[in-house]
Amino acid sequence: MPSTSVQSAPNAKPVQGTSKSPKAEGDRRFKKIDITMKRNQYRSDALIEVLHVAQEAFGYLEEDTLTYIARGLKLPLSRVYGVATFYHLFSLKPNGAHTCVVCMGTACYVKGGGKVVAALEKELGIEVGSTTEDDQVSLMAARCLGACGIAPAVVFDGSIAGKVEPEAAIAKIRAWQSS
Ligand code: FES
Repeated sequence: MPSTSVQSAPNAKPVQGTSKSPKAEGDRRFKKIDITMKRNQYRSDALIEVLHVAQEAFGYLEEDTLTYIARGLKLPLSRVYGVATFYHLFSLKPNGAHTCVVCMGTACYVKGGGKVVAALEKELGIEVGSTTEDDQVSLMAARCLGACGIAPAVVFDGSIAGKVEPEAAIAKIRAWQSS
């Protein structure tokens, strides 16, 4: 019987030494990602191709998927978010014209990430994980973007910003809305 090298991804690097995404186990869509990363020898320059495959498989890119890819390609999650939110062909769920991803990992939370989220939720009148009614802004939360040194970190349309105060985040959102 031929060996199925991607079954449970025993040789795949994405889950090596890190906690497995519960979704990744047994999900054939993640196997497609595994196969693509493996074919590219887990090179970081395969990121866009891997994101394509992931989006085709899932229809959109959500946090677990991006985390999985970041681990596999040994890239900071902030970079993967940056690319995924920069190119319009990729969509995070939900999909507004602008995307704001606030890190809610431990370091960022301690440094005020929660306050940034709360301020943005109030400003936009939506909950994190959703999009404004006019489809202008999607507000997302991430775990650790791999940029803890600049906590709290926020990715505004693909550009990471550090030490973000709630007022500055609101100003950025208002600038989007008035442009
Ligand atoms: S906890 Fe936010 S970047 Fe690490």
